[in-house]
Amino acid sequence: MVVLNNTKTALVELVNVCKEYRVEGVVTMALKDVNFKVYEKDLVAIMGPSGSGKTTLLNMLGLLDRPTSGKIIFDSQDISKLSDKELANLRNTKLGFVFQTFNLINRLTVFENVELPLIPKGLSRNVRAKMVEEALIKVGGGTEWLKKRPNQLSGGQQQRVAIARAIVGRPAVILADEPTGNLDRMSAKIVITTLLELNKEGHTVIIVTHDPEVANCTQKIYVIRDGTIVGEYRPNPDESLIKKLS
Ligand SMILES: Nc1ncnc2c1ncn2[C@@H]1O[C@H](COP(=O)(O)OP(=O)(O)OP(=O)(O)O)[C@@H](O)[C@H]1O
Ligand SMILES: [Mg+2]
Repeated sequence: MVVLNNTKTALVELVNVCKEYRVEGVVTMALKDVNFKVYEKDLVAIMGPSGSGKTTLLNMLGLLDRPTSGKIIFDSQDISKLSDKELANLRNTKLGFVFQTFNLINRLTVFENVELPLIPKGLSRNVRAKMVEEALIKVGGGTEWLKKRPNQLSGGQQQRVAIARAIVGRPAVILADEPTGNLDRMSAKIVITTLLELNKEGHTVIIVTHDPEVANCTQKIYVIRDGTIVGEYRPNPDESLIKKLS
């Protein structure tokens, strides 16, 4: 007899995750018993007040840090069983990060910034060059940007370069922490449109945002407060940044 298993398996799952920070004897419980599942090709937003644990949660989902207690399952693997080196390797191959302040290196060219994640992969120079160009074109960037320094581009353009760097290694998941926080509305719209297109192409996209109009561009909104997920909402596309600026 064939038993069909219709249960979808999560790509990343947090099980009873707690995260505490200890600084000079002061303990902050940043995440309290969080259960969270992200599925392949999901497009989700995480919202919540400042200090509620959004970045900590994203760092857990992005395997940038280990929980104080609880479990993280990534691609069916319990990550507590992995060494730091194996974890770094998993991060480099499966995950791409985008930050509010772009985090580009101004003494490198745009090309060199986008190329960075490919360096440890042992690819030839030609293959790397092709992947960098493809990534930049995918985010709507011009190849004339390649020789420029990031600070010679606008904020919106820099964020697109940062997204190109995040996707150049073709990660399964893109994690973006306030990707539009430093941008004007029009640039924010372009950046969000880029993330939505990447999601349509099959990337799982997780966006932390303060902006309800950005959150309304996704498929599901989670709200976190004081380290606890307090709600799960269906976005309203009529109130989305894309709709408002169309
Ligand atoms: N490295 C750290 N060391 C000590 N405490 C930390 C550290 N990182 C975060 N915290 C604390 O943990 C809590 C959650 O912080 P987190 O950065 O996850 O919040 P956030 O929701 O991302 O806030 P914001 O919207 O301001 O970015 C806060 O009380 C913060 O002060
Ligand atoms: Mg934060």
